[in-house]
Order: sequence, then C-alpha cells, then structure tokens
Amino acid sequence: TSISSSVTDLDAPIYTRDDSRSTRQHGFNGRLVFAIAAAALGSAFQHGYNTGVVNAPQKLIEDWIKVTEHNRTDQVVDQSKVTIIWSIAVAIFCVGGMIGGAITGIVGRKGGLLLNNVLVAVAAIFEGVSKAAGSYEMIIIGRFFIGINSGLNAGLAPMYLAEISPVHLRGAVGTVYQLVITISILVSQILGLESILGTEESWPVLLAITVVPGIFQLVTLPICPESPKYLLLSKGQEMEAQRALTWLRGTIEVHDEMDDMRNEYEAMKLVPKVTIKEMFVNATLRIPLMIAMMVMVAQQLSGINAVMFFSTKIFRMAQLDDKSAQYATLGMGAVNVFMTLVSMVIVEKAGRKTLLLIGFAGMCVTTVLLTISLAYVQNAALWVSYVSILLVILFVVMFAIGPGSIPWFLVSELFNQSARGAATSLAVAVNWTANFIVGIGFLPLQEAMGGNVFIIFTILLALFVLFVYKKVPETKNKTIEEISSMFRQISYQ
Ligand code: GLC
Repeated sequence: TSISSSVTDLDAPIYTRDDSRSTRQHGFNGRLVFAIAAAALGSAFQHGYNTGVVNAPQKLIEDWIKVTEHNRTDQVVDQSKVTIIWSIAVAIFCVGGMIGGAITGIVGRKGGLLLNNVLVAVAAIFEGVSKAAGSYEMIIIGRFFIGINSGLNAGLAPMYLAEISPVHLRGAVGTVYQLVITISILVSQILGLESILGTEESWPVLLAITVVPGIFQLVTLPICPESPKYLLLSKGQEMEAQRALTWLRGTIEVHDEMDDMRNEYEAMKLVPKVTIKEMFVNATLRIPLMIAMMVMVAQQLSGINAVMFFSTKIFRMAQLDDKSAQYATLGMGAVNVFMTLVSMVIVEKAGRKTLLLIGFAGMCVTTVLLTISLAYVQNAALWVSYVSILLVILFVVMFAIGPGSIPWFLVSELFNQSARGAATSLAVAVNWTANFIVGIGFLPLQEAMGGNVFIIFTILLALFVLFVYKKVPETKNKTIEEISSMFRQISYQ
C-alpha cells in the first residue's frame, strides 16, 4: 500500500481524473504483446492443434489400427470396429476438455497455465510411442490428457488475456484466443501433409509435436506476471498486483487502473461470492447463464468440428482423391484463419448479435446446399465435386465470421467479476460436451446416412438462429453494469 500511495501522490494532483484517463490510456507495448503471446500461443495452440491433427492422417492411423488389431486377434477386422476405435480416439479429447473446463475455476491463472504443461508432456509421450508400443490405446489415453489440458486452457487463457489487457483493447485481445486456435488447426493440417509428417512412419511425431508450444510457454510465461486482477481481486495482494500491472504497461503510471481495480475490489467485498447453485436459482444470473451455455452449444452443434475433424473424409465423399482432399482441407484451414481476422476487425462495429445471426443463418443455408450437392456428386460431373468443396469452405467462412470467436468472450461480457469464474467453468464444460457429441456421433451417422447427415445440422442451426434472434442481447458498447441491470429488469418482468 505504501508504494502505491506514494506513486499516486506524486503524480495525481497534476491531472483531473478525466484528463489523466485520456493521456494515460495505455496501448500495446512490447511486454504486453509478449505476455499475450506467452499465454495464448502455448495454450490455444493445444486446443487448435489437437482439434485439427486427427484430420489428415485418419486413414493412415486407421490402417495401422486394423493391422494392430489383426496381429492381436488373428482375425479379419471389419471397418466398423476401426471406425469406433478411431471415433473414440478423436472424441475422448473432448471428454478431457469437459473435465478441464469444469475445473478452471479452482486454479490460478498463470500458475494454472504453467502447471497444465505437465499434461502436455504426458500426452505427447503416450501418443509419440503408441506406434512403437503397438498400442492404439495409448493414443486414446494421450488424447484424453491433452483434452484435459485444452479444457483448462479454454477457461484460463481467455480469462488471463481479458485480465491483463487495457479495457479498450479487451475485445480484440479476447479474440486472440480463437485466432491462435484457427492458426494452429492450419499448422496441424500443413504438418499432416504426406510430404511433411503425414506418413506411415512419421504420424507419431505429428501427434507428439504438440509438446513444442508447451516448451515455448514454459520458457516465456514465467517471465510474465500473474494477472493483476487475479492478484488483487482473488488474492487481496495489492503490492503484487501493482507490480504486475507496472510490468505489463511498461510504466509506473498505472494508478488509474489500480484505482479502478480497487473500486471493483471494494464493491466485490460487499456481495457474497456467487456459487454454482445460485447461478441456477437466481433469475438475474440464470438468464445470462442460459444464454452463455446455449451459445456454446450452438457453436459446437453447428457441426463445425464435423468439418474440422473429418473434412478430408468429407472431401473424399465428394469424390476427391487423397491428395486433393488434403489440399482442400488446407484451403479450408487458411480461410478459417483469414475470416477470424476479419471478424476480429468488424466485431466492435457490427456487434455480437448481428454476427452470430449472419453466421448461424449462413451455415444453415450452406448445409442445405451441401446435402443436395453431396446427393448428386456420385455419378455427376467433376464440377459438382468442386461445388461441394466450395460449400464446405463457405460453411467455415460463416462460422468464423462470428460463431467461432464470439462465444468465448460473450461469457465474460454477460457476467460481472464475482460470477465470471463460475459462469466460465460451466460454459466451457458445456462447449466441450457438445463438441464430444459431434465428435463421437458424426462418423457413425455419416456411415448410416451418407451426405444426408448434414440435414441434422440444418435443423439445429435453424433453431439456434431463432434462439439468438429472440434471446441474445447486443452487448456491444455496453458496460457490464448496463448489461447486468438489463437482466435484472428482464427477471422482474
Ligand atoms: C472454435 C471451437 C472449436 C473449433 C474451432 C474451429 O474454437 O470451439 O471447437 O474447432 O472454433 O475454428
């Protein structure tokens, strides 16, 4: 306290409060960018890379599973069994994610992120030696661990990013998480090419390479401070919070931000900590919680990961040969990155609700067209295949315009500090649960229904459009206080 007040006393009298605000609005500086990179690259990378990495080598690993199983049982192994094993390996990542998401509330931000890398190391070892050990179970175990890691990341990293960024940059910095996810999905697709690591010998390396960003994070993140908000609001450590903020802003003139945080801290002390139970009982919390969870469900049940996990297979359904299918997947990944960048730029102008509506409605229409084109693709001209590919890419464009990035930071916008942690835990866990349902269900459904499988997403997407239209409030340019009071009014009606 003594340091903070002496710093404040030295500088404060020169400015009125509003003057000081405009002259001292801190922007990006080298250290802040370094901290964003240390937190986001190391964590969102696991989430994205392990989402995308199963896509390209599916056939290679399935063949290996078949041989492995044959060697064990000495019987012919039918494809449906291999499909089940592979679906489990893909989807168990999400089971881990649910667990990781649910426990984000109970660990510190920086400490949690750092410790989380133990899981990365374990996962990389299991996946890396699976082939040599002749055990596909090891891939399943490895993906379970990296799933827990990614679930934790999906809660911790966006919170850390939001808490270290200056208020006016919070939206842009919040989107960095989704941006890194899309970049790392693309990286996984590039490395999965046959000319790089997508070969019979190298696929274990492809899976194990996920350890590299873990090492990057272990080297860089210890240099960065713990989140100042976490230090003050959750730990009551004022001096440490000020030191952290000074580091991040690259200046000792941080008293305005410290004042804001202290006010928040005092206000927080007055209200009891929000429990999970209260979130369901109290209508002022229940309504935003339902919205946050539904938007997460919608993000996943839109079917995006059917494409992220299995696009190579979908493109083969569209009669492409293996190589072209992989390149089409790559194009899709690149478009995903590009459109996420676009959405990052326009989200503050266009608004959350509008972009969610455009995105989900666009995906809905695209799935109808895709179903039609896949139905005709079989004995049709080559151009029908190309139309199918374009439609898959359009599907991703519509996703990335809003439904990809907005759900991650909308949770934070719907809740104030005291409920944010609990709400994030619940919403992230729900996201991974829905992700799991798509991951485990898509291949069997696709085998049963062929191209018609996309009709399921059409119906769901139509319902989500309706929900967003009726229930989701526009949060653009509104303070958390305004948003909360809006929900208070709704709940009293
Ligand atoms: C979002 C989803 C994730 C998906 C990705 C695709 O981050 O949560 O599951 O793979 O977008 O860009």
